[in-house]
Amino acid sequence: MSNNKEAWGSRVGLILAMAGNAVGLGNFLRFPVQAIQNGGGAFIIPYLVCFLLMGIPLLYVEWSMGRFGGKNGHHSTPFILDSMDKRKFWKYIGVFGIFTNLAVAAYYCYLESWTLSWVWHSVTGSFSGQSQAQVASFFGNYISLETLEPIVFWIICLVLNTWILSKGLSGGVEKVAKVGMPLLILFGAILAFIAVTLKAGDHGAINDGTLGLNFLWTPDFSTIWSPKVWLAAAGQIFFTLSVGMGSIQCYASYVRSKDDIALNAMSAGWMNGFVEIVLGSAIIIPISVGYLGIDTVVEMTKNGGLGLGFKTLPYLFDQFGGALGVMCGVLWFGLLFFAGITSSLAMGTPCMGFMQDEFGWKREKAAWAFGFVVLLLGLPTVLFFNYGVFDEYDYWAGTVSLVVFALFEIILFAWVFGMDKGWKEITTGADIKVPIIFKYIIKFVTPLMLAWVFISSLPGIWSQIKNEAIDKQILAATDPAVIEQLQTQLLYVNISRVGLLLVWLGIAYLVYIAYKKRIKEGRFTS
Ligand code: ALA
Repeated sequence: MSNNKEAWGSRVGLILAMAGNAVGLGNFLRFPVQAIQNGGGAFIIPYLVCFLLMGIPLLYVEWSMGRFGGKNGHHSTPFILDSMDKRKFWKYIGVFGIFTNLAVAAYYCYLESWTLSWVWHSVTGSFSGQSQAQVASFFGNYISLETLEPIVFWIICLVLNTWILSKGLSGGVEKVAKVGMPLLILFGAILAFIAVTLKAGDHGAINDGTLGLNFLWTPDFSTIWSPKVWLAAAGQIFFTLSVGMGSIQCYASYVRSKDDIALNAMSAGWMNGFVEIVLGSAIIIPISVGYLGIDTVVEMTKNGGLGLGFKTLPYLFDQFGGALGVMCGVLWFGLLFFAGITSSLAMGTPCMGFMQDEFGWKREKAAWAFGFVVLLLGLPTVLFFNYGVFDEYDYWAGTVSLVVFALFEIILFAWVFGMDKGWKEITTGADIKVPIIFKYIIKFVTPLMLAWVFISSLPGIWSQIKNEAIDKQILAATDPAVIEQLQTQLLYVNISRVGLLLVWLGIAYLVYIAYKKRIKEGRFTS
């Protein structure tokens, strides 16, 4: 009954698509800001430890779960998890693997559409000769929807994603990855070269580009015991590798049952690491620190990386002057666009796989339905961006949900499915010898680390639920207009939270219907 006949066209296509899934806006906007905000060199050691002890193990686990599920015709996490144990509740845990993709895609595609728009404005010279304040107010007007332009670019971006998804894995996703990933690396390498060779005095820079790099890469052991830095590093590893999302399992479910996953997983994971650590750290920080100094950049990134990426860099590129400034703008926003689209495409496939497997939908129908749901879900993030709705989605779907799901899946894989069976899944068909130490890391270390991350995040989650940060701002505010704005923000944030919960429940209901349908049709689920 399933119409799902998808398959990868080539190994290189699979690896590039998987790397494209991981390499995203997080590598270029989120990573540098996390690093800056967590003390530069202080961040790198926790980051690398989390990569080795959580990131790599989860990559092995998710790739092998995906291939295992795919053998039985499951291409989304509800029934992949269901097929790994007799207990019936796992399929509802698998709901996270669809929910996260939908909810992240909802705000991510909006961000992706900014990159397209900023390419356009770089080419047409909108930032040329503008002061820093003028470029900042361009951004402010954009997100306040002063014109219809943001909506137009957003719709273009959604239609583009949906159209590519409707062409399938080998006919769409893989083709985009094969073009987008090499271009991204080329653009990144050119920009990194320009950034690290920036000299104090060149084009008005006050510091060498290497000052920012040194800030990041001089390890600082003094904060190694700071839980805040560790939590930030763990969060970054989740987001950047796209683990705990459900998209890796979905892509891997289309791998043939005897094909390697061990080397593939490492190739994609390390490619992401390279892009993040080498290119991600070598563009935005060296240029910003070169012009503004470390203290100013630390201050500017307190509210995230979007301002630095979309307000500050276009202004700084313009300081390079003439064609070089325009070229850097196009390369930077073009690179962000390729990073974004190869990730958002991966977010579409689990939802599509689910509808194709369970309800017999054709690929095109599943793709356009995904696009439509993302349009509906994303609309509040576009319309009420200034009221914190975008950040609220990012917090619940792009942060908390990933950790919760990863914790459940590692318990299922290592302790319920069993590590001996699990190890066999990881190593079957492997083109590399997976170090045996990972068997023990996956069984003991990763679950403990995930449990620690989750437990340590609980006070923050509770504070978020109680809206403590907004309440504090309301108490501190004296201007009635500001108080009113904050109260409206509180309302929108609460509504969006309920909305996300309803989406989760709606998917759970679909999983329940699919399960009943399977029983009726005599299709075994485990
Ligand atoms: N892994 C994707 C990113 O880093 C979601 O943006």
